[in-house]
Amino acid sequence: MSGIVGYIGRHSAQSILLDCLKKLDYRGYDSAGIAVSDLKKIDIRREKGRVEDLEASLQLEPIRPGCLGIGHTRWASHGTPTVSNSHPLSDEEGRFYVVHNGIIENYQQLKKFLISEGHHFQTDTDTEVIPHLLAHFDTGNFEETVRKVIPQLKGAFALALMSTAHPNQIIAVSYDNPLIIGFGQGEAYLSSDIPALLPYTKETYPIKNGEIAILTQTNVEVKTLAGEKIVPEKVTIRWNHDELSLQTYEHFMLKEITEQPEAIKRTLKGRLIESGVAIPEVEAFLEERKLSRFEKITIVGSGTSHHSGMIGKKILETMLDIPVEAAISSEFSFEHGHLNDQQLVIALSQSGETADTISALKEAKKYGAPTIAITNYRKSTLARKSDCLVYTHAGPELAVPATKAYTAQITALILLSIVLTEKTNGPGRKMVPVLLDALHSLADDVEKCLIMTQDAIDQFAQVTNDQEHLFLIGRGLDYVLALEGALKLQEVAYLHADAYAAGEMKHGTMALITPGIPVIALATQQHLRDKAINNIKEIKARDAYVVGITTTGDDEVSAVVDEVLYIPEAHPFLMPILAAIPLQLLAYYAGKVRGYNVDRPRNLAKSLTVE
Ligand code: F6R
Repeated sequence: MSGIVGYIGRHSAQSILLDCLKKLDYRGYDSAGIAVSDLKKIDIRREKGRVEDLEASLQLEPIRPGCLGIGHTRWASHGTPTVSNSHPLSDEEGRFYVVHNGIIENYQQLKKFLISEGHHFQTDTDTEVIPHLLAHFDTGNFEETVRKVIPQLKGAFALALMSTAHPNQIIAVSYDNPLIIGFGQGEAYLSSDIPALLPYTKETYPIKNGEIAILTQTNVEVKTLAGEKIVPEKVTIRWNHDELSLQTYEHFMLKEITEQPEAIKRTLKGRLIESGVAIPEVEAFLEERKLSRFEKITIVGSGTSHHSGMIGKKILETMLDIPVEAAISSEFSFEHGHLNDQQLVIALSQSGETADTISALKEAKKYGAPTIAITNYRKSTLARKSDCLVYTHAGPELAVPATKAYTAQITALILLSIVLTEKTNGPGRKMVPVLLDALHSLADDVEKCLIMTQDAIDQFAQVTNDQEHLFLIGRGLDYVLALEGALKLQEVAYLHADAYAAGEMKHGTMALITPGIPVIALATQQHLRDKAINNIKEIKARDAYVVGITTTGDDEVSAVVDEVLYIPEAHPFLMPILAAIPLQLLAYYAGKVRGYNVDRPRNLAKSLTVE
């Protein structure tokens, strides 16, 4: 997964490409490169590192200015992050230039074939087969050549292509991997994602599978691979520019943590109504498919989205009293048990482009399982491929660590669980009125959490500065929260943070508890509180430094820990949303005090479009 951009028009392509790439660097920041044409000749520059490194190199040694070009910011999947593995990649004669996002699954067979035909490869990437194939099958007509080559590629990919023989054109292809055309006044743009386009245009067209777009100075044509013309149905972007800028914040992560009350309000808006919960798209889907009960529900997701899935599992299981499983997307695709059309599969993904989750969804569909996607991108691949979409209104999440997407996902899952309970007459019906009340004050409770915990967490984060290990413990939903807190601390603060079910520590991990080691103990689930307190005491007896997170006024927890952070008390299903706030803040301040780039953690990227 990486970011692709393109520009064709009257302005300097270089500055527009660089600007667009900077807005996409959450998709990968191992290397960056551009190819620019002045309508006669194509010039390229590639650099290891971030777009800023490429920009510095171009300032030091400019390339020929031009009014069209393509660009790439890379997250290395095949081949280390070196200049030679950076995009744009070309064939050995420099006839074609390619920027690519995704994976060419059959690249080894293609490479073998091309080598046997006398081609020489310079990189370790899967991408390099594409310019070689274009050169090999070149008919002299750029578009025709592309049409010959694309069917030979297997996998999910988005491509922007240039040809030395046709330096006035860009050809774009999208196959199960996003690539959006932006329409300007006498100019056009390409981007893997909306943020890069927003300063330039709100009129867009996401290229569909099996389509190619031919961009020239005067025209943007979309055709099928067979050459049939398509009139692109333009989509107007609703996001505004403010949502994509830092405003007064130092980092997107803190901005997005702080935006959670609003994100939750938007996700509830129009759905949490006076008489209950309405999600018309889900109701229509259930009616259309005549689904009045399910044998089982499986929730698939990766990383933080898997953690929301684990929360959803416990909620749905309680409300519906049927088996519910939370599966890791990358495992589900190959290791799922029995599946049929009576089992619902819910796919969770902020981006809607995570390759593992898309594969899991495809696998579920193969068995006829009805599918619901919960995503933050309406036009994403997951949204398009699922039978029903529940859109989270978290707004653009630009920091690589997921924060507001996570709490919006849980909010959407709670709404969905209420609809499914009502529609399938689940035993949780009697719980609904209390849950509805709690949902009405959720956004305010999150706001209170932010106010109550921010300063204390900032101070605690300073204490963790000289630590390398940290444990988080909890029972039930608190255990899932501990997993999410640990993931955030690992990715943002590079701390070895490990989460355990509180009762499990004594079965082995307790051996790692030494005096002073920081332990975060979550005790927000009232029915498990007494047992959680016993586990905290066991750890305190080994002299760990324990910070408890519990509900306001819980003196019994505060009596057994070194420090306590209070959060408001709410319905047990909502506590994973509230308690996430101090954990997100801790990761943020711990990453910051250690001097790391919290928005762009090393080796990571947002939206992993490779399996
Ligand atoms: C962690 C994080 C990742 C994502 C995961 C899935 O902070 O952001 O673990 O949650 O890569 O991404 P989506 O939700 O886009 O499928």
